[in-house]
Amino acid sequence: MKRLSRLRRHRAAGPLLLIFALFTIGTTFQLASAANSDTATVAARSATVEEGKQLFLKGCSSCHGINAEGGEVAPSLIGVGAASVDFQVGTGRMPMADMSTQSMRKKPVYNAEEVNALATYVASLAPGPDVPSDSVLNYERDGSVAQGGELFRTNCAMCHNFAAQGGALTQGKYAPTLMGVEPKHIYEAMITGPQSMPVFSDKTITPEEKLSLIKWIKAAEAEPQLGGAALGRVGPVTEGLLVWTLGIGLLIGVAVWLAMKAR
Ligand code: HEC
Ligand code: HEC
Repeated sequence: MKRLSRLRRHRAAGPLLLIFALFTIGTTFQLASAANSDTATVAARSATVEEGKQLFLKGCSSCHGINAEGGEVAPSLIGVGAASVDFQVGTGRMPMADMSTQSMRKKPVYNAEEVNALATYVASLAPGPDVPSDSVLNYERDGSVAQGGELFRTNCAMCHNFAAQGGALTQGKYAPTLMGVEPKHIYEAMITGPQSMPVFSDKTITPEEKLSLIKWIKAAEAEPQLGGAALGRVGPVTEGLLVWTLGIGLLIGVAVWLAMKAR
């Protein structure tokens, strides 16, 4: 008894007891919560994170840093979210091939499962925008083509052209055509704002409006090309201009030729 009371009065007794108590509470809590949540999905998720980390170390860390913290040539990916990775890798922009003005859309290097692993890994570093699920992307049911067209003309046309055919920007950059882009990638482009494209938050364009935009782009894509070549679908003005320059040019040519012959 005497020994115990001496121990109890020891200077370290208080802190030690506290550490012991915290440890016990911590472990109990962890065990309890692990038992509650679906242990299998937790394990599967951490396996996906690990797979993504390995893929990242091999294919991305040379530019983005060992821990995605960024490097001299590429930005940090902490907090960009799964959506940004899914867009960049899913459209083949990343891994970047040549470091010229703009990362180009190309054939994706990774398959869907690997893209998911990379996205899950980057999302595990810090929270960011998530990949929109199929239930969110229900533009066929929830969107309105008319509203989408209006939103497109006010928010996107200045860069992507009035018919979403793409256009040149300053400094050799360009906004690509939106024909043939997967609905998921259109949504992700809006919420992540790749390169010189701004981010369209849910306050600027609500999720329902985003679906309308997708619906309008898909409708434009399906439109048949009446009257021959599309000429970038800029409208009757270009078409008229083309006829004028070609036609008048031809007439002038004929006139000059006749005048030469007459001499
Ligand atoms: C050769 C260098 C290089 C490699 C390799 C590379 N990246 Fe990038 N990455 C860049 C540069 C430069 C940018 C910034 C310019 C841009 O967005 O095009 C960028 C941008 C990004 C962005 C956008 C960040 C944001 O702010 O939204 C993501 C996401 C990304 N990279 C993911 C990846 C992943 C994942 C890999 C591996 C599969 C990878 N990158 C490989 C150079 C690289
Ligand atoms: C300030 C100019 C600008 C505006 C405004 C803009 N974008 Fe973009 N957008 C770009 C640029 C530049 C890129 C190419 C980025 C890249 O290659 O990383 C791009 C890329 C995209 C892509 C990816 C296309 C592909 O080939 O994968 C989609 C989809 C897109 N934009 C949709 C939109 C929509 C929808 C709007 C309107 C809500 C919009 N953009 C507004 C400049 C713009």
